[in-house]
Parts: sequence; C-alpha cells; structure tokens
Amino acid sequence: MTDRILLFGASGQLGRALLSAGPPDVVIAPRSVDIADAQAVLECTKQATPTWIVNAAAMTDVDGAHVRPELAMAINTLGPGNLARAADSVGARMVHVSTEAVFDGESTRSYTEDDVCHPVSVYGASKLAGEHLVSIFSPESYILRTSWLYSGATGTNFPTRILEQLRDPGRVISVVTDIVGNPTTTSLLAEAIMALMGRPPAPGTYHVCCRDAASKFDWAVEIAEVGGHDPGRITPVTSAEYPTVALRPKHVDLDCTKFADTGLIRLPTWREAWRDVLADRG
Ligand SMILES: NC(=O)c1ccc[n+]([C@@H]2O[C@H](COP(=O)([O-])OP(=O)(O)OC[C@H]3O[C@@H](n4cnc5c(N)ncnc54)[C@H](OP(=O)(O)O)[C@@H]3O)[C@@H](O)[C@H]2O)c1
Repeated sequence: MTDRILLFGASGQLGRALLSAGPPDVVIAPRSVDIADAQAVLECTKQATPTWIVNAAAMTDVDGAHVRPELAMAINTLGPGNLARAADSVGARMVHVSTEAVFDGESTRSYTEDDVCHPVSVYGASKLAGEHLVSIFSPESYILRTSWLYSGATGTNFPTRILEQLRDPGRVISVVTDIVGNPTTTSLLAEAIMALMGRPPAPGTYHVCCRDAASKFDWAVEIAEVGGHDPGRITPVTSAEYPTVALRPKHVDLDCTKFADTGLIRLPTWREAWRDVLADRG
C-alpha cells in the first residue's frame, strides 16, 4: 500500500515546510477541523484514510499558554490524543512534534530521550501531557522533540526580527545570553519527518534538531555577522532584565544521537543551517 499523509497544521511554519518537501500523497486537514474536537478529527481521518497522520498543529504561544492553560491543554494535550486515537482507528501511524520545553533546562549536559521531563511552563506541561496521550493511544507512533524552530525565508521569527532591527541603524538590540537551545530550521525537521516515514525506525521518541547549542545572543551575533552587519550592535542582557509572562527553560541542548544513529539524514550545525537558509534565498 502506498503511503497517504493526513497533515494537521498545514498553515504553520512546519506545515508549510512539509508541503514544500513535496510529499507525493498528502491530504491537508482543513483548519476548520479543530484538533481539540475528537469527533471532527475522527470524521476527517476516516474520510482521508491515511497511513500516516502528521501533527504540525499546536498552540505555540508560550506566554499565551500561561494565560490560557485550558486552551493550551485542549490544543497541545487533548489534540494530539485525539489524533492518535483517530490514527489507531484507521490503522495509521502518527508523527507528532514536541518541544525542548518538556525539560527544565537546569542540566549542564545535553538531554537524551531518557532524561526526566520537568517542564517549567504551562506550554511545556501541555506538550508533555500530549506526548503521553500519543504514546498511550498510538504506541507505534513517533514523537519528535525539536527546539527553537524557525522557517528562515518567511514569516515572523527570531532571525527575521533580528534582521529587521539591524536594518534600523539607530536601534539598540538587546538579546539574552542565558537562554540556550538548538536553533532548528523547519526545512530540516520536514526532511527528517519525510525520511522517517519513508524508512521508519523503531517507534518512540526522538530528539531532532540542528547540532550545537546557542544562546539567543550567540544566534543574534551570528545573524548579524553573516548578514554583513556590525555584531557589536547586539547587546548582551540577562533574562532577569527581560522577564516574560511564562518561564523558559534556561539551558536545553537536545542530544540527537538516537536519531542520528538511524542514518536517515545528516543533522547540520545550526550555523550551517542558517547559511543554507540564506543561500536558498539567493
Ligand atoms: N516554534 C518553535 O520554536 C518550536 C520549538 C519546538 C517545538 N515546536 C513544535 O513544533 C510544532 C510546529 O510548530 P510551528 O512553529 O510550526 O507552529 P505554528 O507556526 O505556530 O503553527 C501552528 C499550526 O497549528 C494550527 N493550529 C493551532 N491551533 C489549532 C487547532 N486547535 N486545531 C487545528 N490546528 C490548529 C495553526 O493554525 P492557525 O494559525 O490558523 O491557528 C498553525 O497552522 C509544534 O508542535 C510546536 O510545539 C515549535
């Protein structure tokens, strides 16, 4: 049987990258299907008869999730659970995307899939509970944890915001030095998802992101340097000077050895990935 993919969250950063990767047989779940609505998800799935459900849908507003935990739980917890149940009911497998925010960021070493999760935000808690529902309802599925996802070429994301500020010569650009993650392009994650569906490894949880960790400050300096701007314009600050509504984990470097060992695709460093994004822009 050839694979048919039912994609939720097609209009988001990752969803658009997945569509750009050109999956041969993909059904786009209409946005009118709310993943928090179990019945709507089931009906949509039965109609599409997929072999795979890919969940790129989520509530990704970390501060918004803190203010509206019931919505975060509906979309990030019950939503993936509904998709996993629907997948199970039609004999499909699921690829679900999760986040580095399931960890507290207090460890000084990189996090493996076996490390204890301890989210510090409602967003992270809602995503972790979503992972649990996916593995309960669809144990043959894949949970891919990624970090600091950005679609380089379009939209509003960290690099485009920094570049916009750099274009204003009078602008002081303050960026935090004490929040560390793995900047990851949506195109890399999309490529990983496509490769995984083409040659599925053992089911379970995998960390998939660009190699090497960076602080937001490191990332901004690189963006300035590669873009031909003066990196000295990026001013280091601490997160204590820039409080946010919800906490972010301080230092999460995802160890992707388990995924790398599948041999599916090569994971570039975040610096390589950023240069590739710029090269693709022409
Ligand atoms: N962004 C990051 O830095 C980051 C980091 C680590 C992990 N992740 C994870 O990566 C995945 C993809 O993130 P992303 O940045 O591509 O997200 P995104 O750009 O915010 O897109 C989210 C998508 O989900 C849709 N959506 C939201 N609520 C929905 C609902 N109730 N029912 C159906 N669709 C709904 C959105 O549609 P509307 O726009 O129409 O609402 C949008 O298409 C998520 O699982 C996220 O948790 C993201």
